[in-house]
Amino acid sequence: MRISHRTANGTSTYPHEVPQFGLGVFLMSEPGECKNACLAALKAGYTHIDTARAYSNEHEVGEAIKESGLNREDIFITTKLRRMHAIGFNDVLEHCQMSLELLDTDFIDLYLVHAPPEDIDHRAPVWKGMEHCLERGWVKAIGVSNYGAHHLEGMREYATYLPSVNQIEINPWLQRPELRAATEAIGAKVMAYSPLARGHKLDDPSLVLVAERLGCTPAQVAIKFCHDIGCITIPKSSREERIVENLASLDVDISSEMGAIEAMECGYISGWDPTSEP
Ligand SMILES: NC(=O)c1ccc[n+]([C@@H]2O[C@H](COP(=O)([O-])OP(=O)(O)OC[C@H]3O[C@@H](n4cnc5c(N)ncnc54)[C@H](OP(=O)(O)O)[C@@H]3O)[C@@H](O)[C@H]2O)c1
Repeated sequence: MRISHRTANGTSTYPHEVPQFGLGVFLMSEPGECKNACLAALKAGYTHIDTARAYSNEHEVGEAIKESGLNREDIFITTKLRRMHAIGFNDVLEHCQMSLELLDTDFIDLYLVHAPPEDIDHRAPVWKGMEHCLERGWVKAIGVSNYGAHHLEGMREYATYLPSVNQIEINPWLQRPELRAATEAIGAKVMAYSPLARGHKLDDPSLVLVAERLGCTPAQVAIKFCHDIGCITIPKSSREERIVENLASLDVDISSEMGAIEAMECGYISGWDPTSEP
């Protein structure tokens, strides 16, 4: 899928290709856990890894990429500026450089502001810092995460390059059509995090029935739903068999069950929700 940044006069710039499916590595805190999961994913055919400074495992992502023997250019790395570091222009530059070092790479494919800076006055200088990282070539694309429609609209006041991606929680129980539309309205793609609602709802009887009718697993239905509504998605698993199962969801045809999946919407937030903050 192609991502790019819309400018004030409506042109798109800094195009970059992002694989629509990847491995999320949140909550892989045991030493070696993240590295082993990344190696298993790369072996299975994944080409996109989503990490963050807050996950404390960027170094293991970097180690896995080196050990895999794959070319850096053939793997897409997303990482994120930690919320506590999103306080000023120079802080962004400093932390971007630190992520480059931890990942042991010359460039980051996609760098995201992990959540809207809590201090509203920090939002413009932080985004200017992100734009500087883009212009310097340290990162190939920049975006945001956990931005609500009002946060995105506010960016029109200060952004030279609007974000290429908004990473938000999306799954069958939290479908967010309005926020997806607001994201697309500024020229950004939606990246669906927690596509399995962190595993909280995989025993939902409606989901289990759909999976039985389709002859696949409940997790595969949830992941493919996020994919088929046009999102990039990044399910997390530390287990090799699930890493393989989750990738295989791309081969499942869920079109006959879209209505049943859409009916699972219940506004369920599995983790945090900064999109509703001021
Ligand atoms: N930007 C943000 O604020 C934000 C917030 C949350 C997440 N994220 C990103 O999105 C990624 C995914 O979200 P997430 O980690 O919150 O949750 P998730 O991917 O929705 O769910 C992960 C949970 O589901 C389990 N699981 C995975 N595959 C399974 C399968 N096939 N069958 C049964 N259970 C399965 C995992 O356990 P095992 O590991 O034991 O398999 C884990 O407990 C994160 O890793 C992170 O990269 C971003």
